[in-house]
Amino acid sequence: MNAIPDWPQQQLRGHPIEGRRYRCREFFEREWEGMWTRVWLLLGRESEIPNPGDWQREDVGPESILMVRQQDGGVKAFYNVCQHRGNRLVHEEKGSVRRFVCKYHSWAFLPDGELNFAPDADDFPQGDPCGRLRLESLPCEAFAGFIWVNMDPNCGSLQDYLGPVWHDWSRYGLETWKRYVALTTTVPCNWKVVLDNFNESYHVPTVHRIVGDPAERRRMHSGVDTDRRNTRFDLSDEGHNRMIMPGGYAGASLNEDGSVGEPLSSILHEWELDAADFKDRPEATREALQEAKRRLGPARGYRHYEKMADEQFTDAFHYTLFPNFAVSLWADGFHFLRARPHPTDPEQCIFDNWWYASQPEGETTPVRTTAGIVERDHECEHETFKLGERSMGRTIDQDLAIFPSQQLGFRSRGYKRAYLAGQESRVGRFHELIDDYIEGRR
Ligand code: FES
Ligand SMILES: [Fe+2]
Repeated sequence: MNAIPDWPQQQLRGHPIEGRRYRCREFFEREWEGMWTRVWLLLGRESEIPNPGDWQREDVGPESILMVRQQDGGVKAFYNVCQHRGNRLVHEEKGSVRRFVCKYHSWAFLPDGELNFAPDADDFPQGDPCGRLRLESLPCEAFAGFIWVNMDPNCGSLQDYLGPVWHDWSRYGLETWKRYVALTTTVPCNWKVVLDNFNESYHVPTVHRIVGDPAERRRMHSGVDTDRRNTRFDLSDEGHNRMIMPGGYAGASLNEDGSVGEPLSSILHEWELDAADFKDRPEATREALQEAKRRLGPARGYRHYEKMADEQFTDAFHYTLFPNFAVSLWADGFHFLRARPHPTDPEQCIFDNWWYASQPEGETTPVRTTAGIVERDHECEHETFKLGERSMGRTIDQDLAIFPSQQLGFRSRGYKRAYLAGQESRVGRFHELIDDYIEGRR
């Protein structure tokens, strides 16, 4: 039985996805006005700004947003722009202030947005601007420890926007999870190239190919069954996608003699199970792991296990949140992937690859992330670098190698439109939704 219910079926229109969507400036601008300025965007992290006056800046396309901790403990979001003559207020990533002071004429804004000082305040024919002008604010909410903003002043609630994702994620206690990897780079491709990729697993056997035994080629060594026939694909009414692959199967990592291989045998051992017991019935490891985690987890400090469904202990839950956020959610790991549009160029995007891990009380073992193993007490700094200067982890590097190449193809008059497989229906749905926003249907 699935404790995690299916999402409703969706009808796709199947309209053409042409190359111009990825390179044409006019489409880029329509997308900005019609879609980006009307959706909830995941931008900040509450733990980055614990004290009143702490702030964090994140940019999306041409906009720059400040998220600021208030005296009452809440968070407010403002456009990062001075209300005098439009200078960008801050250029750093984060900080702490008593007032934001503009570097042009020294106007100073309090953390709640109010203008509190302007030189020669008596020299304004329209009246003293102090107490009268404020930083322009925008709707802002917190969920799962993240700060989300919406540029539409009349937007609905974040919970309504997230729909069933809200319920799935509420079980993990994500607000307490800590960040262990935070890597950002600029990629020479449109932002949708990245999201298309995370909206399908059809590329997995090719791009993330495992060299060796042909029988292994359709599967990955992570203990996850990537066969589309065993995968659940879901599209939500709100426009988000979910893909669930069964995990904990020894079939994904059997040794030649039929015994359970790595990493599954180590994982079984961690949960007091003996891999040898599953030699002739590898398919039983999934349920055995679920049972062991349910029984042993909470006492070992894994308090969030109390709320989780059995599948969430073993299976791979991949989400793409409309429009630009892809997440792989494991029982103790949150792999965060995001693509933001470039301020001016449709053929570039900003790509983030972050990893968060749960914080069981007393747990000291290092955290296994996609970008390597990290000591648990390691304070992660955000690193921005040029593409290719360092690795983002093998799997992501493999995806990144394709993106610029596909963007080049989108410039060709020899490419008419995408021809999608059934397992790529999330790609189709993603593009239909963008058009729904642009054309005013949402
Ligand atoms: S533009 Fe900011 S003080 Fe003048
Ligand atoms: Fe991939």
